Amino acid sequence: MGKHGGKPDTAESDGHKPDKPIPPRTPTTPAQEMTMPALVGELAATGVLTDEWREAVTAVDRRRFLPDLIWTSDGDGWAPCSRTDDPERWEALAHSDTALVTQMTAGPGSERVPTSSASMPRVVATMLRELAPEESSRVLEIGTGTGYNAALLAHRLGSHRVTTVDIDPDLTRRARSALAAQGLDPTVIAADGEAGWPPGAPYDRIIATCAVHQVPYAWVEQAAPGAVIVTP
Ligand SMILES: C[S@@+](CC[C@H](N)C(=O)[O-])C[C@H]1O[C@@H](n2cnc3c(N)ncnc32)[C@H](O)[C@@H]1O
Repeated sequence: MGKHGGKPDTAESDGHKPDKPIPPRTPTTPAQEMTMPALVGELAATGVLTDEWREAVTAVDRRRFLPDLIWTSDGDGWAPCSRTDDPERWEALAHSDTALVTQMTAGPGSERVPTSSASMPRVVATMLRELAPEESSRVLEIGTGTGYNAALLAHRLGSHRVTTVDIDPDLTRRARSALAAQGLDPTVIAADGEAGWPPGAPYDRIIATCAVHQVPYAWVEQAAPGAVIVTP
């Protein structure tokens, strides 16, 4: 698994295509007019956001996990949006069903490469639906990124049941502080997630939000009997 896994655009469970594929987005509300309740309603209406996750997605504010500078794909490259310079557009993007790049390599224009992103809310909801944790499940997330997905897990299951790992210590530091500001305290580890996180094992659910070519055997070793592993 490479350091900079791309953002997921499909969800697979146990290496197989999910029974319920991610439906294509059929925008009913333009991004400029989207609010979080509108996005939640849209995701719920298409069956992507289940009742089990609706409360967490409503309660956890995605904006609190996003940096002030984000980028979206404009077809040719990455268009930046600064919260300071264009707060209305930043808000609209935060509430839209869009993957937002949250960290870029330094470098000139087209040579810049995204190194972390906040996944599309549709993908986040689909992967959580496929994860289908029990209320008592202990969960390992690989790819902390902003900490938003970990916040949804911690909100629903309790912080003590959630461990999240990212290879980038700058990201884990930022995510830990964003989580703490929301009163959430999951275990946040800076490490290569390919090795899982043995001290927290066994896990009932393992979710990777970065790309993997194959499920690392360490995850299988750290999975409790009957565990579910969800990867992009
Ligand atoms: C799509 S982003 C994660 C989105 C995140 N779950 C969120 O809610 O914002 C993918 C993340 O995976 C991390 N990553 C890539 N390779 C990794 C690895 N081998 N171990 C741990 N994290 C990794 C990247 O640093 C990046 O932050």
